[in-house]
Amino acid sequence: MLSPAALFGVVGYPLAHSMSPALHNWGFSRVGISAVYMAWPVPSEKLADFFVAVRTLPIRGGNITLPHKVASMALLDTVSTRAKSVGAVNVFFWEGGRLHGDNTDVTGFLAPIRNERFTSALVLGAGGASRAVVVGLKELGVPDIAVSNRSANKAEALAKDFGLRFVPWDNRASVGADCVINTTSVGMKGERVAESPFPQEGFTGRGLAYDIIYNPLETRFLADARAAGWKTQDGLAMFVEQARESFRLWHKGADLPAEEAAALIKQTLAL
Ligand code: ATR
Repeated sequence: MLSPAALFGVVGYPLAHSMSPALHNWGFSRVGISAVYMAWPVPSEKLADFFVAVRTLPIRGGNITLPHKVASMALLDTVSTRAKSVGAVNVFFWEGGRLHGDNTDVTGFLAPIRNERFTSALVLGAGGASRAVVVGLKELGVPDIAVSNRSANKAEALAKDFGLRFVPWDNRASVGADCVINTTSVGMKGERVAESPFPQEGFTGRGLAYDIIYNPLETRFLADARAAGWKTQDGLAMFVEQARESFRLWHKGADLPAEEAAALIKQTLAL
């Protein structure tokens, strides 16, 4: 009989596309932990109530996703230096009786490109995920980082916070960066899945197109880039690595095998 001792989960809205429950429930049984990981679709106006529930129920930790990565910071007791530098949290857990937030998206984002070198990068989008991407690009030492977003004010604020070049959305195709990263939700399953946030004529010369979306693995953005002769990186490695890092934080270093985790997600996506 199933008698889990602890609850974990992911909070976001909407959540239909999340693979986190599949990955972590597999992880719990893989390393012999008695726990259940749920999907908690919570709209923004209920986010504060959600964290009251976390403080009431036997919830040991979880992940925070779109659109709550920035707003959740104020609802936790403590936040790591890493999460503060990003300005967003994607994981929470109890630490010494306090509800603590951290950010594992930077580690996840860098995992597949640690050995790459770029002279310039263009970040599309200015939400919580884009901040982790910018911190990652800085850690990688990319000298010229530009940001563009449908709503200019958010990209301008991000550019100011991190000392980036602001590019108006209508000019994004003419930046000429050798790495373009999509952090918008355009192309995600259920969110304009057939569309790309970047005009194909923007893929000039050679470069790497990196989409942090993992559902679907092949987005229109990546298909357009490949057709233009660019290298591509999908969001699976970032997803798996942020999840493995979350798992380590919850379970004091317990490690999930990366290849098995990636295979499980691919299999689940194909269902
Ligand atoms: P996350 O925390 O995961 O980054 P988010 O904060 O909700 O999620 O950010 C979503 C991003 O996708 C934003 O940059 C958003 O642009 P706006 O700031 O203009 O809303 C972007 N986005 C969503 N739908 C879009 C669309 N149809 N076209 C262009 N950008 C879009």
